[in-house]
Amino acid sequence: MTDEILNWGLLSTAHINRALIAPLNASKRNRLRAVASRSQSTADSYAREWKIPRGLGSYEALLNDPEIDVIYNSLPNHLHAEWTIKALEAGKHVLCEKPLALTLAEVDAMVAASQRAGKVVTEAFMYRHHPQTLRVRELVDNGDLGKLQMIKGSFTFTLTRENDIRLKKEMGGGSIWDVGCYPISYARAVTGAEPLEVFGWQVSGPAGIDETFVGQMRFPDDVYAQIDCGFKSPSHAFIEIVGADGTLNIPVPFKPGKKEKFYLTRDGKTETFEIKGQELYLGEVEDMADAILLDKPPRISLDDSRGNVAAILALLESAQSGRPVTL
Ligand SMILES: NC(=O)c1ccc[n+]([C@@H]2O[C@H](COP(=O)([O-])OP(=O)(O)OC[C@H]3O[C@@H](n4cnc5c(N)ncnc54)[C@H](OP(=O)(O)O)[C@@H]3O)[C@@H](O)[C@H]2O)c1
Repeated sequence: MTDEILNWGLLSTAHINRALIAPLNASKRNRLRAVASRSQSTADSYAREWKIPRGLGSYEALLNDPEIDVIYNSLPNHLHAEWTIKALEAGKHVLCEKPLALTLAEVDAMVAASQRAGKVVTEAFMYRHHPQTLRVRELVDNGDLGKLQMIKGSFTFTLTRENDIRLKKEMGGGSIWDVGCYPISYARAVTGAEPLEVFGWQVSGPAGIDETFVGQMRFPDDVYAQIDCGFKSPSHAFIEIVGADGTLNIPVPFKPGKKEKFYLTRDGKTETFEIKGQELYLGEVEDMADAILLDKPPRISLDDSRGNVAAILALLESAQSGRPVTL
Protein backbone atom coordinates (compact mmCIF):
# COMPACT_ATOMS: atom_id res chain seq x y z
CA MET A 1 0.00 0.00 0.00
CA THR A 2 1.03 3.59 -0.48
CA ASP A 3 -0.25 6.81 1.02
CA GLU A 4 0.70 8.80 -2.07
CA ILE A 5 -1.96 11.14 -3.50
CA LEU A 6 -2.27 11.67 -7.25
CA ASN A 7 -2.67 15.22 -8.53
CA TRP A 8 -5.00 15.49 -11.52
CA GLY A 9 -5.41 18.09 -14.23
CA LEU A 10 -8.37 18.47 -16.59
CA LEU A 11 -7.35 18.92 -20.22
CA SER A 12 -10.11 21.31 -21.42
CA THR A 13 -13.30 22.66 -19.93
CA ALA A 14 -15.49 19.99 -21.60
CA HIS A 15 -19.02 19.34 -20.33
CA ILE A 16 -18.09 15.80 -19.31
CA ASN A 17 -15.55 17.09 -16.77
CA ARG A 18 -18.33 17.73 -14.31
CA ALA A 19 -18.92 13.96 -14.06
CA LEU A 20 -15.36 13.49 -12.79
CA ILE A 21 -15.02 16.45 -10.45
CA ALA A 22 -17.11 15.05 -7.58
CA PRO A 23 -15.41 11.61 -7.62
CA LEU A 24 -11.97 13.25 -7.73
CA ASN A 25 -12.92 15.42 -4.76
CA ALA A 26 -14.36 12.42 -2.90
CA SER A 27 -11.47 10.03 -3.56
CA LYS A 28 -8.80 9.74 -0.84
CA ARG A 29 -6.02 8.87 -3.29
CA ASN A 30 -6.81 11.49 -5.95
CA ARG A 31 -7.03 15.24 -5.90
CA LEU A 32 -8.02 17.73 -8.59
CA ARG A 33 -5.41 20.52 -8.83
CA ALA A 34 -5.77 22.27 -12.18
CA VAL A 35 -7.84 22.82 -15.31
CA ALA A 36 -6.45 23.91 -18.68
CA SER A 37 -8.25 25.68 -21.49
CA ARG A 38 -7.25 27.28 -24.78
CA SER A 39 -8.16 30.57 -23.15
CA GLN A 40 -6.90 31.84 -19.79
CA SER A 41 -10.17 33.59 -18.98
CA THR A 42 -12.19 30.40 -19.63
CA ALA A 43 -9.77 28.43 -17.44
CA ASP A 44 -10.01 31.02 -14.66
CA SER A 45 -13.80 31.21 -14.61
CA TYR A 46 -14.08 27.41 -14.82
CA ALA A 47 -11.61 27.02 -11.94
CA ARG A 48 -13.61 29.51 -9.86
CA GLU A 49 -16.94 27.84 -10.66
CA TRP A 50 -15.73 24.31 -9.78
CA LYS A 51 -13.37 25.34 -6.96
CA ILE A 52 -10.29 24.00 -8.73
CA PRO A 53 -7.08 25.54 -7.30
CA ARG A 54 -5.50 26.59 -10.62
CA GLY A 55 -6.67 27.56 -14.12
CA LEU A 56 -4.08 27.36 -16.91
CA GLY A 57 -4.36 29.22 -20.22
CA SER A 58 -2.97 26.51 -22.50
CA TYR A 59 -2.89 22.73 -22.73
CA GLU A 60 0.94 22.84 -22.88
CA ALA A 61 1.01 24.64 -19.53
CA LEU A 62 -0.85 21.71 -17.93
CA LEU A 63 1.44 19.13 -19.51
CA ASN A 64 4.52 21.06 -18.34
CA ASP A 65 3.20 21.49 -14.81
CA PRO A 66 5.47 19.48 -12.50
CA GLU A 67 2.77 19.15 -9.81
CA ILE A 68 0.41 17.16 -12.09
CA ASP A 69 0.59 13.34 -12.16
CA VAL A 70 -2.55 12.44 -14.15
CA ILE A 71 -4.26 14.13 -17.10
CA TYR A 72 -7.94 13.62 -17.83
CA ASN A 73 -8.20 13.97 -21.62
CA SER A 74 -11.74 15.17 -22.33
CA LEU A 75 -10.96 16.77 -25.68
CA PRO A 76 -13.05 16.11 -28.83
CA ASN A 77 -12.44 12.64 -30.30
CA HIS A 78 -9.98 13.74 -33.02
CA LEU A 79 -7.61 15.13 -30.35
CA HIS A 80 -7.55 12.07 -28.06
CA ALA A 81 -4.48 10.43 -29.59
CA GLU A 82 -2.46 13.61 -30.19
CA TRP A 83 -2.82 15.02 -26.67
CA THR A 84 -2.59 11.67 -24.89
CA ILE A 85 0.75 11.07 -26.61
CA LYS A 86 1.92 14.61 -25.75
CA ALA A 87 0.91 14.07 -22.12
CA LEU A 88 2.78 10.76 -21.97
CA GLU A 89 5.86 12.40 -23.45
CA ALA A 90 5.58 15.02 -20.71
CA GLY A 91 5.68 12.19 -18.14
CA LYS A 92 1.98 12.12 -17.21
CA HIS A 93 -0.46 9.24 -16.81
CA VAL A 94 -3.65 9.67 -18.87
CA LEU A 95 -7.29 8.79 -18.41
CA CYS A 96 -8.58 9.35 -21.95
CA GLU A 97 -12.24 9.73 -22.89
CA LYS A 98 -13.94 7.26 -25.22
CA PRO A 99 -13.37 6.48 -28.01
CA LEU A 100 -9.66 6.05 -27.24
CA ALA A 101 -8.79 7.01 -30.84
CA LEU A 102 -10.19 7.12 -34.36
CA THR A 103 -7.73 4.81 -36.17
CA LEU A 104 -5.73 1.72 -35.29
CA ALA A 105 -2.53 3.56 -36.17
CA GLU A 106 -3.41 6.14 -33.50
CA VAL A 107 -4.05 3.41 -30.91
CA ASP A 108 -0.73 1.76 -31.76
CA ALA A 109 1.10 5.08 -31.40
CA MET A 110 -0.55 5.57 -27.98
CA VAL A 111 0.52 2.07 -26.90
CA ALA A 112 4.10 2.75 -28.02
CA ALA A 113 4.16 6.14 -26.26
CA SER A 114 2.83 4.58 -23.06
CA GLN A 115 5.50 1.89 -23.16
CA ARG A 116 8.27 4.42 -23.84
CA ALA A 117 7.14 6.64 -20.99
CA GLY A 118 6.31 3.82 -18.57
CA LYS A 119 3.02 5.60 -17.79
CA VAL A 120 -0.56 4.35 -17.59
CA VAL A 121 -3.14 5.11 -20.29
CA THR A 122 -6.67 3.80 -20.14
CA GLU A 123 -10.02 4.60 -21.75
CA ALA A 124 -12.71 6.26 -19.63
CA PHE A 125 -15.49 3.69 -20.17
CA MET A 126 -17.03 4.32 -16.76
CA TYR A 127 -19.76 1.64 -16.99
CA ARG A 128 -17.16 -1.15 -17.06
CA HIS A 129 -16.23 -0.46 -13.40
CA HIS A 130 -19.77 -0.35 -12.01
CA PRO A 131 -20.81 -3.28 -9.75
CA GLN A 132 -23.77 -4.03 -12.06
CA THR A 133 -21.49 -4.64 -15.06
CA LEU A 134 -19.14 -6.76 -12.94
CA ARG A 135 -22.10 -8.88 -11.69
CA VAL A 136 -23.49 -9.34 -15.22
CA ARG A 137 -20.11 -10.51 -16.49
CA GLU A 138 -19.79 -12.88 -13.52
CA LEU A 139 -23.18 -14.48 -14.27
CA VAL A 140 -22.31 -14.96 -17.94
CA ASP A 141 -18.84 -16.31 -17.13
CA ASN A 142 -20.31 -18.70 -14.51
CA GLY A 143 -22.57 -20.18 -17.19
CA ASP A 144 -25.84 -19.03 -15.56
CA LEU A 145 -27.28 -18.37 -19.04
CA GLY A 146 -25.91 -21.54 -20.60
CA LYS A 147 -24.09 -21.20 -23.87
CA LEU A 148 -24.10 -17.60 -25.06
CA GLN A 149 -26.21 -17.04 -28.21
CA MET A 150 -26.95 -13.36 -28.76
CA ILE A 151 -26.35 -9.89 -27.35
CA LYS A 152 -28.64 -7.00 -28.26
CA GLY A 153 -27.98 -3.42 -27.30
CA SER A 154 -29.03 0.10 -28.02
CA PHE A 155 -27.98 3.64 -27.10
CA THR A 156 -29.77 6.64 -28.58
CA PHE A 157 -30.61 10.22 -27.62
CA THR A 158 -31.93 13.24 -29.47
CA LEU A 159 -29.08 15.62 -30.28
CA THR A 160 -30.44 19.14 -30.61
CA ARG A 161 -27.27 21.28 -30.10
CA GLU A 162 -26.45 22.59 -33.57
CA ASN A 163 -22.70 23.12 -33.17
CA ASP A 164 -21.97 20.02 -31.18
CA ILE A 165 -18.63 18.25 -31.72
CA ARG A 166 -20.64 15.04 -32.33
CA LEU A 167 -21.98 16.46 -35.61
CA LYS A 168 -18.56 17.34 -37.03
CA LYS A 169 -16.98 14.71 -39.24
CA GLU A 170 -13.47 16.17 -38.92
CA MET A 171 -13.70 15.85 -35.12
CA GLY A 172 -14.63 12.18 -35.14
CA GLY A 173 -18.35 12.91 -34.95
CA GLY A 174 -21.13 10.42 -35.55
CA SER A 175 -23.35 8.29 -33.36
CA ILE A 176 -21.31 5.10 -33.52
CA TRP A 177 -18.17 6.83 -32.16
CA ASP A 178 -20.23 8.67 -29.56
CA VAL A 179 -22.74 6.14 -28.20
CA GLY A 180 -22.62 3.02 -30.41
CA CYS A 181 -19.20 2.40 -28.85
CA TYR A 182 -21.04 1.40 -25.62
CA PRO A 183 -23.12 -1.59 -26.81
CA ILE A 184 -20.16 -2.68 -28.98
CA SER A 185 -17.89 -2.54 -25.94
CA TYR A 186 -20.50 -4.38 -23.82
CA ALA A 187 -20.89 -7.18 -26.38
CA ARG A 188 -17.11 -7.62 -26.64
CA ALA A 189 -16.75 -7.65 -22.85
CA VAL A 190 -19.50 -10.25 -22.38
CA THR A 191 -18.22 -12.55 -25.13
CA GLY A 192 -14.59 -11.96 -24.10
CA ALA A 193 -13.79 -12.05 -27.81
CA GLU A 194 -13.44 -9.91 -30.90
CA PRO A 195 -15.94 -10.07 -33.77
CA LEU A 196 -14.90 -12.14 -36.78
CA GLU A 197 -17.24 -10.39 -39.20
CA VAL A 198 -19.55 -7.37 -39.10
CA PHE A 199 -22.26 -5.74 -41.17
CA GLY A 200 -23.50 -2.18 -40.73
CA TRP A 201 -26.02 0.31 -42.09
CA GLN A 202 -26.05 4.01 -41.45
CA VAL A 203 -28.33 6.96 -42.01
CA SER A 204 -26.12 9.96 -42.73
CA GLY A 205 -26.96 13.53 -41.79
CA PRO A 206 -26.16 16.66 -43.82
CA ALA A 207 -22.62 16.84 -42.36
CA GLY A 208 -21.85 13.32 -43.56
CA ILE A 209 -21.73 11.65 -40.16
CA ASP A 210 -23.93 8.71 -39.17
CA GLU A 211 -26.94 10.06 -37.27
CA THR A 212 -28.27 6.52 -36.92
CA PHE A 213 -26.28 3.30 -37.08
CA VAL A 214 -27.41 -0.33 -37.01
CA GLY A 215 -24.85 -3.10 -36.84
CA GLN A 216 -24.45 -6.83 -36.55
CA MET A 217 -21.36 -8.68 -35.31
CA ARG A 218 -20.50 -12.36 -35.59
CA PHE A 219 -18.28 -13.59 -32.78
CA PRO A 220 -16.47 -16.95 -32.50
CA ASP A 221 -18.48 -19.98 -31.44
CA ASP A 222 -21.67 -18.78 -33.20
CA VAL A 223 -22.36 -15.87 -30.88
CA TYR A 224 -24.04 -12.87 -32.54
CA ALA A 225 -24.61 -9.25 -31.53
CA GLN A 226 -27.03 -6.63 -32.83
CA ILE A 227 -26.54 -3.00 -31.89
CA ASP A 228 -28.08 0.32 -32.79
CA CYS A 229 -27.36 3.90 -31.86
CA GLY A 230 -28.30 7.36 -32.96
CA PHE A 231 -28.98 11.02 -32.40
CA LYS A 232 -32.53 10.96 -33.76
CA SER A 233 -34.57 9.15 -31.10
CA PRO A 234 -35.23 10.06 -27.48
CA SER A 235 -32.95 8.68 -24.76
CA HIS A 236 -33.07 4.93 -24.99
CA ALA A 237 -30.63 2.27 -23.88
CA PHE A 238 -30.68 -1.41 -22.98
CA ILE A 239 -28.66 -4.61 -23.13
CA GLU A 240 -30.18 -8.06 -23.49
CA ILE A 241 -27.99 -11.14 -23.26
CA VAL A 242 -29.51 -14.39 -24.50
CA GLY A 243 -28.07 -17.78 -23.62
CA ALA A 244 -29.26 -21.33 -24.29
CA ASP A 245 -30.73 -21.53 -20.74
CA GLY A 246 -31.74 -17.97 -19.90
CA THR A 247 -31.90 -14.28 -20.72
CA LEU A 248 -30.50 -11.26 -18.91
CA ASN A 249 -32.27 -7.93 -19.32
CA ILE A 250 -30.29 -4.89 -18.25
CA PRO A 251 -32.46 -1.78 -18.54
CA VAL A 252 -29.77 0.73 -17.48
CA PRO A 253 -26.51 -0.74 -18.75
CA PHE A 254 -24.33 2.27 -19.55
CA LYS A 255 -25.19 4.86 -16.91
CA PRO A 256 -26.17 2.73 -13.91
CA GLY A 257 -26.84 4.57 -10.68
CA LYS A 258 -26.43 3.91 -6.97
CA LYS A 259 -29.36 1.47 -6.97
CA GLU A 260 -29.99 -0.61 -10.06
CA LYS A 261 -32.00 -3.67 -11.00
CA PHE A 262 -31.56 -6.18 -13.76
CA TYR A 263 -33.41 -9.40 -14.53
CA LEU A 264 -32.56 -13.03 -15.26
CA THR A 265 -35.31 -15.14 -16.83
CA ARG A 266 -34.92 -18.94 -16.81
CA ASP A 267 -37.59 -21.64 -17.18
CA GLY A 268 -40.33 -18.98 -17.36
CA LYS A 269 -39.32 -17.43 -14.00
CA THR A 270 -37.75 -14.02 -13.61
CA GLU A 271 -35.23 -13.32 -10.87
CA THR A 272 -34.46 -9.70 -9.97
CA PHE A 273 -30.90 -8.68 -9.12
CA GLU A 274 -30.69 -5.56 -6.98
CA ILE A 275 -27.34 -3.89 -7.23
CA LYS A 276 -26.01 -1.43 -4.72
CA GLY A 277 -23.94 0.69 -7.04
CA GLN A 278 -21.57 3.56 -6.55
CA GLU A 279 -21.11 7.01 -7.99
CA LEU A 280 -20.75 6.06 -11.67
CA TYR A 281 -17.46 7.82 -12.43
CA LEU A 282 -15.70 6.87 -9.18
CA GLY A 283 -14.72 3.46 -10.56
CA GLU A 284 -12.51 4.80 -13.33
CA VAL A 285 -10.79 7.23 -10.95
CA GLU A 286 -10.02 4.50 -8.40
CA ASP A 287 -8.96 2.11 -11.18
CA MET A 288 -6.42 4.73 -12.31
CA ALA A 289 -5.09 5.03 -8.74
CA ASP A 290 -4.81 1.23 -8.46
CA ALA A 291 -2.90 1.10 -11.75
CA ILE A 292 -0.51 3.92 -10.90
CA LEU A 293 0.02 3.43 -7.18
CA LEU A 294 -0.39 -0.33 -6.82
CA ASP A 295 0.88 -1.38 -10.24
CA LYS A 296 -2.35 -3.24 -11.07
CA PRO A 297 -3.28 -3.59 -14.75
CA PRO A 298 -6.07 -1.13 -15.57
CA ARG A 299 -9.44 -2.87 -15.94
CA ILE A 300 -9.64 -1.67 -19.56
CA SER A 301 -6.42 -2.63 -21.32
CA LEU A 302 -5.20 -0.82 -24.42
CA ASP A 303 -5.69 -4.09 -26.29
CA ASP A 304 -9.34 -4.06 -25.26
CA SER A 305 -9.74 -0.44 -26.45
CA ARG A 306 -7.98 -1.34 -29.70
CA GLY A 307 -10.57 -4.08 -30.25
CA ASN A 308 -13.41 -1.57 -29.83
CA VAL A 309 -11.86 0.87 -32.30
CA ALA A 310 -11.30 -2.00 -34.77
CA ALA A 311 -14.94 -3.12 -34.51
CA ILE A 312 -16.25 0.43 -35.01
CA LEU A 313 -14.00 1.00 -38.03
CA ALA A 314 -15.11 -2.31 -39.57
CA LEU A 315 -18.79 -1.45 -39.05
CA LEU A 316 -18.29 1.98 -40.65
CA GLU A 317 -16.44 0.39 -43.57
CA SER A 318 -19.28 -2.07 -44.04
CA ALA A 319 -21.88 0.70 -44.04
CA GLN A 320 -19.84 2.54 -46.69
CA SER A 321 -19.33 -0.48 -48.94
CA GLY A 322 -22.66 -2.23 -48.37
CA ARG A 323 -20.78 -5.49 -47.74
CA PRO A 324 -19.84 -7.54 -44.69
CA VAL A 325 -16.34 -6.85 -43.39
CA THR A 326 -14.11 -9.58 -42.00
CA LEU A 327 -11.74 -8.68 -39.18
N1 LIG B 1 -17.80 8.90 -20.61
C1 LIG B 1 -18.85 9.65 -20.73
O1 LIG B 1 -19.85 9.49 -20.04
C2 LIG B 1 -18.84 10.77 -21.74
C3 LIG B 1 -19.93 11.63 -21.82
C4 LIG B 1 -19.84 12.74 -22.68
C5 LIG B 1 -18.73 12.90 -23.46
N2 LIG B 1 -17.70 12.00 -23.39
C6 LIG B 1 -16.49 12.19 -24.23
O2 LIG B 1 -15.81 13.33 -23.73
C7 LIG B 1 -15.25 14.09 -24.80
C8 LIG B 1 -15.76 15.50 -24.71
O3 LIG B 1 -17.16 15.54 -24.88
P1 LIG B 1 -18.01 16.81 -24.37
O4 LIG B 1 -19.39 16.63 -24.83
O5 LIG B 1 -17.79 17.02 -22.91
O6 LIG B 1 -17.31 17.96 -25.23
P2 LIG B 1 -17.44 19.54 -25.18
O7 LIG B 1 -18.28 19.98 -24.04
O8 LIG B 1 -17.75 20.00 -26.54
O9 LIG B 1 -15.96 19.96 -24.79
C9 LIG B 1 -14.83 19.71 -25.56
C10 LIG B 1 -13.72 20.64 -25.06
O10 LIG B 1 -12.59 20.45 -25.87
C11 LIG B 1 -11.89 21.68 -26.01
N3 LIG B 1 -11.55 21.84 -27.43
C12 LIG B 1 -10.31 21.83 -27.96
N4 LIG B 1 -10.33 21.98 -29.28
C13 LIG B 1 -11.62 22.11 -29.63
C14 LIG B 1 -12.27 22.33 -30.86
N5 LIG B 1 -11.59 22.42 -32.02
N6 LIG B 1 -13.61 22.43 -30.84
C15 LIG B 1 -14.32 22.30 -29.72
N7 LIG B 1 -13.74 22.10 -28.48
C16 LIG B 1 -12.40 22.01 -28.45
C17 LIG B 1 -12.77 22.79 -25.45
O11 LIG B 1 -12.19 23.19 -24.21
P3 LIG B 1 -11.46 24.60 -24.00
O12 LIG B 1 -12.31 25.62 -24.72
O13 LIG B 1 -11.48 24.77 -22.54
O14 LIG B 1 -10.08 24.50 -24.55
C18 LIG B 1 -14.10 22.12 -25.18
O15 LIG B 1 -14.69 22.58 -23.99
C19 LIG B 1 -15.63 13.34 -26.09
O16 LIG B 1 -14.56 12.53 -26.47
C20 LIG B 1 -16.81 12.47 -25.69
O17 LIG B 1 -16.86 11.26 -26.42
C21 LIG B 1 -17.74 10.96 -22.54
